[in-house]
This record gives sequence, C-alpha cells and structure tokens, in this order.
Amino acid sequence: MRIDILTVVPDILKSPFEASILKRAIEKGLVEVHLHNLRDYTTDNYKQVDDYQYGGGAGMVMMIEPIDKCISKLQAERDYDEIIYMTPDGKTLEQRTANNLSLQKNLIILCGHYKGVDQRVRDHFITKEISIGDYVLSGGELGAAVLCDAVIRLIPGVIGDETSALTDSFQDNLLAPPIYTRPASYKGWDVPEILTSGNFPKIEAWREEKAYERTQEKRPDLLKE
Ligand code: ADE
Repeated sequence: MRIDILTVVPDILKSPFEASILKRAIEKGLVEVHLHNLRDYTTDNYKQVDDYQYGGGAGMVMMIEPIDKCISKLQAERDYDEIIYMTPDGKTLEQRTANNLSLQKNLIILCGHYKGVDQRVRDHFITKEISIGDYVLSGGELGAAVLCDAVIRLIPGVIGDETSALTDSFQDNLLAPPIYTRPASYKGWDVPEILTSGNFPKIEAWREEKAYERTQEKRPDLLKE
C-alpha cells in the first residue's frame, strides 16, 4: 500500500511513522508513506496556501491551486483508490472503514488546516470525508495519523500474530474481553482460574461471555447495531 499525505505542516506527521508498528511496516516494505508540503506547490514568493473567505468571516481558507497541483501530479503517476479529506464534518471513523481502506492500494489523505479547504476541492477531488470524532482539532494531521495507524496495522504481515488484529475490540461489534499476564497472583489479586486451566474451549467460552458483558456495560449501543 502507498499513502500520500498532503499537509501544510508535515512536521506533525513525522514521528508517528518513526516508531513501533508503523515504522516496522514501512521498513518491511508493506506500506510507503509520503508526506507532501502543500507550500511546495505554490507559485508565489510568499508560498501562500491560504486566503480570506469570500463573503467575509473569521479564519483563513486553504486555496484550491496548490492542492490541485499536488493531487494532479500524484494522479499522473498512479491511480488512487480514494482521496480522503480529514475534517470534523466528515463521517466518523469506524473499524469497518479502516478494514475497507486496508484493502486498497493507493490512498491520498488531505489534511485541512485553518478553517478548512475551498469547497471546490471537496466537490471535485475528494472521494471520502473522515472525522476522527466530534471535536475540532487545529488541523487534520493528527486525524490522518490516527487513520493511518488504524489502517496500516490491518495490512497482512504488519502485526506479527495474524489473528491479533481480528480479536480487537470493534472487529465483531464486541469489545475485547479482559486480558492478563504474569504473575498469576499479585498482591493477592488473582488471574481468573479458568485462564490458567489449559482448557481452551472453556477459555474461549469465558472470553466470549466477558466480551459480551463488557460491551453491555460500557457500550450497549454496539449490541443494538
Ligand atoms: N480536523 C479538525 N478536526 C478534525 C476531526 N475531528 N477529525 C478529522 N479531521 C479534523
């Protein structure tokens, strides 16, 4: 998979890809992430990427031209499956969207900044608009990092244990069950006996029951879906 991220602040997006699972996925050649600074696609001396709103109003708007130039250059090089715009008024990111995107080959992610982008960018280039939650960030970059993490970890080979991503919370509309590791007893707080019994069918049944209980307690809305 190849992901091209368009931003006016590429620095924010460097460190998420320089550690842990995302770093390893890149090193293994399972994903390529390319950051594009939209200022490199400006034509004026000031490298201007934003301007005042038509009709007045507070806040700057990202101009269409640098975005068009960058997207058009990339599209001339390869086909893209989705051109995603990170925005608080997009569709809230869910596991199923991450699952679907993890099957794609080439993605562009455009990060909004200031008030957002000229509407014509959304009308003519964007194929998917994604929000990471009902709150406003100062830009789409952290949202893009969240989206990339959720997607990249699902690419086969990225997570060592192939079944691990499938047993995550949300993967089957249930939260994950409680998990434990050594020691079996700590300050008198014991790991449930069933987990050390070696009886795997029983352990599986226990996990399912706990996943259901936890979902009912914390996220009953998931059970209604
Ligand atoms: N940009 C600003 N706020 C955002 C959000 N909640 N999700 C995605 N992009 C954003």
